[in-house]
Amino acid sequence: KDVDPMVARNENASTNDSTQFTPTPQRKYRFFQNVEVTSEGVAIVRLDNREKKVNTLSFALSDEAKIMWNSDIHNNTDIKAVIFTSAKPDTFIAGADIFDIQQLEDKTQLLSYIERELQFFQRMKSKGVPLIAAIDGPALGGGLEWALWCDYRICTDNPKTKLGLPEVKLGLLPGFGGTQNLPALVGVQNAMDMMLTGKDIRPNKAKKMGLVDLVVAPQSLEKVAIHTAKGLVDGTVKKSKPKKKSLLNRFIEDTPPGQYMMWQQINKLVQKNTNGNYPSPFAIIDCVKYGLAHPSGNDKFKHEREQFTKLAQTNESEALIGIFDGMTAMKKHQYGEDAAVPVKKVAVIGAGLMGAGIAQVTAQKGYEVLLKDRDDVAVGRGLSYMSDNWDKKVKRRRMTKFERNKNMSAVVGLSDDSESWKKHFSGADLVIEAVFEEISLKRRIVEEIESVTPDHCIFATNTSAIPIADIAQGARRPERIIGMHYFSPVPSMPLLEIIPHGGTADCATATAFEVGTKQGKTCIVVKDVPGFYVNRCLGPFLVEVSALAKDGVSLEALDKAMKNFGMPVGPATLADEVGIDVVSHVASFLSNADLGVRMEGGDISLMQNMIGKGWLGKKSGQGFYSYNGKKKTINSDVKAYLKEFSSRDLGLKEKEIQDRMVSRFVNEAVKCLEDEIIADPVVGDIGLVFGTGFAPFRGGPFRYLDTVGVDKYCDLMNGFAEKYGPQFEPCQLLKDHAASGKKF
Ligand SMILES: NC(=O)c1ccc[n+]([C@@H]2O[C@H](COP(=O)([O-])OP(=O)(O)OC[C@H]3O[C@@H](n4cnc5c(N)ncnc54)[C@H](O)[C@@H]3O)[C@@H](O)[C@H]2O)c1
Repeated sequence: KDVDPMVARNENASTNDSTQFTPTPQRKYRFFQNVEVTSEGVAIVRLDNREKKVNTLSFALSDEAKIMWNSDIHNNTDIKAVIFTSAKPDTFIAGADIFDIQQLEDKTQLLSYIERELQFFQRMKSKGVPLIAAIDGPALGGGLEWALWCDYRICTDNPKTKLGLPEVKLGLLPGFGGTQNLPALVGVQNAMDMMLTGKDIRPNKAKKMGLVDLVVAPQSLEKVAIHTAKGLVDGTVKKSKPKKKSLLNRFIEDTPPGQYMMWQQINKLVQKNTNGNYPSPFAIIDCVKYGLAHPSGNDKFKHEREQFTKLAQTNESEALIGIFDGMTAMKKHQYGEDAAVPVKKVAVIGAGLMGAGIAQVTAQKGYEVLLKDRDDVAVGRGLSYMSDNWDKKVKRRRMTKFERNKNMSAVVGLSDDSESWKKHFSGADLVIEAVFEEISLKRRIVEEIESVTPDHCIFATNTSAIPIADIAQGARRPERIIGMHYFSPVPSMPLLEIIPHGGTADCATATAFEVGTKQGKTCIVVKDVPGFYVNRCLGPFLVEVSALAKDGVSLEALDKAMKNFGMPVGPATLADEVGIDVVSHVASFLSNADLGVRMEGGDISLMQNMIGKGWLGKKSGQGFYSYNGKKKTINSDVKAYLKEFSSRDLGLKEKEIQDRMVSRFVNEAVKCLEDEIIADPVVGDIGLVFGTGFAPFRGGPFRYLDTVGVDKYCDLMNGFAEKYGPQFEPCQLLKDHAASGKKF
């Protein structure tokens, strides 16, 4: 969700086109304001991309930076110090421009591009005057690397200020000297934490770890920077030095046995978190180790850019960039910004797991929230859920106490215990319903709410499976009814499916999109069919779990196979987390829906019988696994039951287990495209990566098919169809692409 290091394709399209910038007497540069030099010889370089809201490091900017430096600064002996800052409000440099990398057919050209960029930074340093970075807003990726080449860093305490090297999230590494300059400044452990997770560092933490030297108010940034520059020139301010390490950190980072232990630990952690599927964290480790072994000279930078260039050529990086691109594209309003109903007050009905989560993410974004349940006890539970979550954030310093209190006071708890709820609802602009999954109840709620809310109010339902058209049937304002399908747990799941039914007006879709995006969700609009998109794809996948169990595959082997494929958890663990009853409900609902043969081949009685035995998953302490001890173990009763359940043991190998599971999933995604349930493959990829955790390094089902080869995949499925039955038959669109060789 937080991936905003680099600005994607659409954002940058015009930065890289041939738009000619014509200098005027007022403005010499496209990416910089004219350099200003104070009477004391402090040059101020203000980055300011004329065509964009944010500054990004692009090939074009780099070329111009060199010209600017050479003509305005390098030979000007009056200049005694240089400040780099941004003329844009709330943003320093948001990262390097990914579009540049994507456009290069021959990625090895990156080597010379990065080398030229480094030469620029080194030339900057060679002037021998103090360089100061004055940062307000994000300094990410290449932006922070620029600041790392400076002698002194000042940032503001603006809530928008964050510093980080998030390249790992795109399968890359910091290539402008970051893997070398960062450890030298903040220590190896801090640097590895930042580079391997890609996390943002907030101003106070940045100061504490020595990433910046000063934190100031945004209004005084430039003044303090100029004052500091003068101090660095006359010696009253000292250049920043790495923070003094504690005795323990000196042992860990600076002695051979300490380093040995540290690298072992880091490797173990990375291996565990990536399952060996992501090359970039290992390349980052390699660059830092190389730098420690070759501290002087430029070899370490050469090694870094070679590693960067290698990563830029991997499928993994291409896939992760594809997801990032898709996510950025999806944030753009496609349903008419003006069409959206202006929303100030959002009412949530049902303060259960989903309702409380929806209320939480809504209040966090500054909306007034009404949270209603049947009685005060249920509302109280919902309110506690939110306040507990916010308390945890305060504890982790992810939120201030003030923000927590502000959020809490934005939520009004209401129940049927008092009639006053109706008065509150008369001011609601959007209602999101998250009561039990019963059509009669949902219809009753629609009727009740329509009678107390204003005519412009949009009614959204968070149903997992009931067709939206059925819920809208008999409504007074069906055109204002829409599905907003959130995923559990709402605060952390990044996806929202928006489901207009046949008669939904554009204003309702636009409103759902607007609010969902503001809630921090990536929104995909999908057709009103059973299971919508994500659950529809999960249906055949889950059926295959029981089919494989019948063929003698153990739960451990199944979970391991899918984790190795790149899923965050195996299907048995997933079912336990979601709840066996919920999964079984979805599976049997979809079995009775319109998927036909695609839901066959398994035996959903597996989970129905488990429900009968009270094995509901994690919530009941027992599902496929037992959760009674500290570590989850396979439930021995389930093991015995599965033995009974299985009818044969085919001794299947891991690859076949993976292919059987994944092909059911992927085929359904393509069928959804064929049936226009999703608009295009990008929506399909984003939906399954964000909604189910489909191996992100594979980029989603469509990119996966393109990588493996559609024709090869069709052959694989046809083979399975012959061996196991028609549930494996590839859908028409898959066959068409296989025949024509067309990629998704
Ligand atoms: N749990 C999930 O993973 C998930 C995911 C997506 C969608 N959903 C859907 O979200 C909805 C809610 O699911 P949940 O998991 O939060 O259920 P839940 O049982 O935790 O919460 C439902 C809440 O609705 C309240 N409620 C029932 N009747 C009401 C009424 N007449 N007025 C006001 N409140 C009423 C209940 O008291 C309860 O607090 C369901 O439609 C479900 O299918 C669930």
